[in-house]
Amino acid sequence: MKIAIIGAGNVGAMVASRVIDAALADVALIDIVPGMAKGKALDISDVRPIVNSTANIIGTEDFKDIKGSDIVVITAGLARKPGMSRDDLLKKNSEIIKNLSLQVKNYCPSSIVIVVTNPLDVMSYLVMKTTDFNPKKVIGMAGVLDTARFINALWERNQDIDRNKVLMMGSHGDTMVPVNRSENISSEVFSETSELARNRGAEIVKHLGTGSAYFAPSASVFAMLKAIVKNEKSAMCASAYLEGQYGEKDIYIGVPVVLGSQGIEKIIEIELTKEEKQAFKKSALQIREGITKTL
Ligand code: NAI
Ligand code: 2OP
Repeated sequence: MKIAIIGAGNVGAMVASRVIDAALADVALIDIVPGMAKGKALDISDVRPIVNSTANIIGTEDFKDIKGSDIVVITAGLARKPGMSRDDLLKKNSEIIKNLSLQVKNYCPSSIVIVVTNPLDVMSYLVMKTTDFNPKKVIGMAGVLDTARFINALWERNQDIDRNKVLMMGSHGDTMVPVNRSENISSEVFSETSELARNRGAEIVKHLGTGSAYFAPSASVFAMLKAIVKNEKSAMCASAYLEGQYGEKDIYIGVPVVLGSQGIEKIIEIELTKEEKQAFKKSALQIREGITKTL
């Protein structure tokens, strides 16, 4: 099994490190900055004797080296800077993503692609359209992260929750849609913690000064990779292409899915309340505006 990770910045390098530590697959780490992927790959490979991993990693600037990868993780692009919204990244990252998608189509035509680059839902749509891959094989990472942030905020308030009853749907942006099916969360705690989760990315950016979150994002990508490599058929939220589900068509947006060796094996349709339906529609509208700007 070979995983190509495009972009050896904070998220890409951390995903590579997690994959090698767990010996989940061999890795080709690629970046346009000369030497960056190579240097980080050498450092990550030196960890192998410490953690007893037999997985191999190479770092490269040459797209030929991603050839034959079973899974491609796209993290290339610009990260958010303080005061910058995810949508500010739209124009720059869409150019990068279109070019990269053509390389992925050329060198890894049968791969499953996990998109991380922001604005996430729009970039996932662009990758699917540019590669012309089966939409089940192009998956956006956000729901695992946003749901984890939501659950963590609840844990920090000592809320005794069933983690399967709390999730974040909708866009990876200001209009994300918190969903709670746990009866023991008060509406006050629900709105406080979901708001915290919604703003967590920006909160981290503000503290860091440069760059954005990468520990929880890379752990989220790793959870998705593991589900695919080990054919776990696990349920988690991800940005997926909808073809009528939740009343939406021709869009990528966060919904619960089942992930396995074929990529998205199922889109789970849960019953939404009237308020959740309205919030989901609003979120879809915002993503559509972003998609229109890239066409
Ligand atoms: P970073 O700036 O540390 O790394 C990005 C890397 O991409 C850089 O090393 C850059 O040289 C490289 N790059 C740019 N153009 C490239 C190209 N054409 N080919 C190969 N490499 C190229 O940024 P970081 O923190 O790793 O974030 C990456 C992206 O992921 C950003 O767009 C960020 O907003 C997004 N992100 C999304 C999350 C999500 O939940 N979906 C969570 C965290 C980050
Ligand atoms: C985050 O939510 C920047 O999208 C990234 O941390």
